Amino acid sequence: MHIFITGIAGFLGANLADYYIAKKYKVSGCDNLVGGTKKNINLKKVKFYKADCENLEQMSKIMKGVDVVIHSAAYPHEGLSTFAPYLICKSNFIGSVSVFTAAIQNKVKRIVFCSSMARYGNVKPPFAENQNVNPVDPYGVSKLAAEQVLKILADSHGVEYNIAVPHNIIGPKQKYDDPYRNVVSIMINLMLQKRRPIIYGDGKQTRNFSDVVDCIYCLDKLATDKKIKSEIFNIGPDEDTISINELYEILCNKLQFNEQAKYVDDRPNEVKNAICSSDKARKFLNYKTTVNLYDSIDKVINFIKENGPKKFEYNYNLEIKNNLTPKTWKNKLF
Ligand SMILES: NC(=O)c1ccc[n+]([C@@H]2O[C@H](COP(=O)([O-])OP(=O)(O)OC[C@H]3O[C@@H](n4cnc5c(N)ncnc54)[C@H](O)[C@@H]3O)[C@@H](O)[C@H]2O)c1
Repeated sequence: MHIFITGIAGFLGANLADYYIAKKYKVSGCDNLVGGTKKNINLKKVKFYKADCENLEQMSKIMKGVDVVIHSAAYPHEGLSTFAPYLICKSNFIGSVSVFTAAIQNKVKRIVFCSSMARYGNVKPPFAENQNVNPVDPYGVSKLAAEQVLKILADSHGVEYNIAVPHNIIGPKQKYDDPYRNVVSIMINLMLQKRRPIIYGDGKQTRNFSDVVDCIYCLDKLATDKKIKSEIFNIGPDEDTISINELYEILCNKLQFNEQAKYVDDRPNEVKNAICSSDKARKFLNYKTTVNLYDSIDKVINFIKENGPKKFEYNYNLEIKNNLTPKTWKNKLF
C-alpha cells in the first residue's frame, strides 16, 4: 500500500508518516514548509517532495502510483482567518481542490480529508456529524467548502473518500512558536521562558484536547478500512472537557509556574464551547481514549523541553488590521 500525505512535515502529517513507516507501508508526501519542518520527517524512509498543494501540475506528477491520499496540509489558523482570510481560504480551499483533482487524475483508490471542527461553528454542542452547521470564520468555511467539493468530485468520478474532523490535537512534533495557534504549546513555551501566558476573554471557553496517537488510529481506519467509506467522523474524546482557565491551572501545577495569566479581549468569532460528540467514532471506529489529557500534556512538555523553548515567529501578514485585530498579534505580544 502506498500512502501519500500532504502536509507531511507538519504535526499530524509527520506523526501519520511515522505510523505508516512502522507498518511498513510505502510513504511519500509533500509540504511547502510554511508551518512544518523537514526535521519532523524520517527522510530515510519517506519520499519527500517540497511542493505546494496549490500547484496542480506538480501535485499530479508526484502522486503517480499512489493508493491513498491523506490530505493533511492546511493553514490550520482558525483565529487568524478573520484577519488573513485571503491567505487561509486560498491555501485551504484552492489547495484542497488541487490535491483532490491530482488524486483523481492519478486514479488513487481513496482520499481522506482532514477537516476541522471549525466547520460546525456556533451550533449547539456537542457537535454531531449529521447536524446543521454554521461556520463562523473563513477557516471553517474553507474546510466545509473543501469537504463539499471532495464529495461531489469523489461521487462523480467514482473515487472513495472519508472526512475526518479532529478535535484539538496535541502531541510531539507540534509547532509551539506560532503565536496564532496551538494554545497548549504556546502556554508551555511561554511558561518555560518564565513569561506569563495570555488568555483571550474570560478563559471560560471550553475545549477537548486529544492525543495525536488517538487521532491516528482512527485516521488509519478512514484511510484503509474497506467497510468505511463516504463518511464523516469526529475524531477525539468527548470526556475531559476543560476550560482554558483550567488548562492554565494544570500547566501551572505541572511546570510549577506561580504567576497569573494575562487576560486580554476576546478574539472575534471565537466559539465558546467547541465540543464534538464522539458517539459515531466510538460505534464505527471503536474509538477509545488511550492517552488521557494529563499524560498527553506531559508528552508536549517533554517535547518542548527536549527541543528548547523558542521565540515566537510572526510568519503571516495580517491582511486586515483594525480595532478588532487582537493586539497580541498587532503588537507582537507573545
Ligand atoms: N492540530 C489540530 O488540533 C487540528 C484540529 C483539527 C483539524 N486539524 C487539521 O489537521 C491538518 C493538520 O494540522 P496540523 O496540526 O498538523 O498542522 P501543521 O501546521 O502542523 O501541519 C500542516 C502542514 O501543511 C503544510 N502546508 C500548509 N499549506 C500547504 C500547501 N499549500 N502546500 C503544501 N503544504 C502546506 C505546512 O507547512 C504544515 O507542515 C490540517 O488540515 C488541520 O486543519 C488540525
